Amino acid sequence: MLRSLRDLDVARRRVLVRVDYNVPLKDGRITDDTRLRESLPTLEYLLARHAKIILVSHLGRPEGKVVPELRLDPIAQRLQELLRRPVTKLNDCIGPSVQSAIAQMQPGDIVLLENVRFYPQEEANDEDFARELARLADCYVNDAFGTAHRAHASTYGVAKFLPSAAGLLLEREVTMLSRATENPARPFIALVGGAKLKEKIGVLNDLMGKVDAFLLGGAVAFTLLKAQGAHVGDSLVDETMLDEARAYLQGVREQGPELVLPVDVQIVRGSERALAPADAIPDGWQGRDIGPQTIQLFQDWVKRAKTILWAGPLGRFEEPPFDAGTRAIAHAIAESQAFAIVGGGETAAALSHAGLTHAQNIYCSTGGGAALEFIGGRKLLPIEILKKS
Ligand code: 3PG
Repeated sequence: MLRSLRDLDVARRRVLVRVDYNVPLKDGRITDDTRLRESLPTLEYLLARHAKIILVSHLGRPEGKVVPELRLDPIAQRLQELLRRPVTKLNDCIGPSVQSAIAQMQPGDIVLLENVRFYPQEEANDEDFARELARLADCYVNDAFGTAHRAHASTYGVAKFLPSAAGLLLEREVTMLSRATENPARPFIALVGGAKLKEKIGVLNDLMGKVDAFLLGGAVAFTLLKAQGAHVGDSLVDETMLDEARAYLQGVREQGPELVLPVDVQIVRGSERALAPADAIPDGWQGRDIGPQTIQLFQDWVKRAKTILWAGPLGRFEEPPFDAGTRAIAHAIAESQAFAIVGGGETAAALSHAGLTHAQNIYCSTGGGAALEFIGGRKLLPIEILKKS
């Protein structure tokens, strides 16, 4: 059980709230503000209690240096629009200037600190830095589920120095994702795609003894097909992952979940298009999407499933007609009896592309890596530290 924001005395107090506002930006503009919107219930809860809200987040990977393009000004601007009240953006996150700005806050005021990853001490989980952050507030709320797989100063270290609790988003994520970790309804299937096997191999291995079937698409499938000895032509393969792919395939053989790899794929060569068996793609041709037989195979599994984890598109969904496979499977999930969890911004984008963002049985997590690690059963320290003893 997590300590909840509802158990914390926040009325008129200074509350440090770790949010995950690591949102996609293009030319300085936010292209998807889902993570901001999902943080609103916690902020509104605090505003209703006249708390002084001090927001802290990272953006991108500035690696401990000030990177002007990664300042949080566009985020403050958007948050202000969403909340319809002023959000004061500060240019630092610790130190005298921040302390004096906070000393002047009135109940109901909101400040957003500067990108916390401008300090190398953040990712190092430096204790002095965590203490400096803690000095700014009376209590700490972690609502950054998307960053829950990073034990950094603002997600983990700081919780040791202040009365702390999970925010409403973090709490909801844990409740929803636990449906896949605590006695999931079966069959439980993992539908995994996307471009990089490196990003998915962790969850594939973690889920080995837990799921009834793996359904694999995207470039992830080409690397596994190649590792099995298939001819995948010029399809995207992560050559550095072939040994890990073989180890995973060996694990599947030993532990027995079903492995469903594509049997046919849509391929391209320049402007030419064709359909090919997934294990015999001619040289010069590249796989772009799962083919109709694979769609059927995946749909049959989805229809029988009771729990689904979906991470990664099954083809180049942003490039029609190679969105057909992803779109068909998204619809099959929305029409199924299963409870489905979607992890990662790209998969959420694919769901939205299919017009299914509001499907009742699909839960879209704000976490990418964090959601996969959580469902894989890993202990996430920023969440562990908020558990009731
Ligand atoms: C994410 O978007 O997955 C989180 O914000 C964590 O970002 P990171 O991978 O740069 O730590």
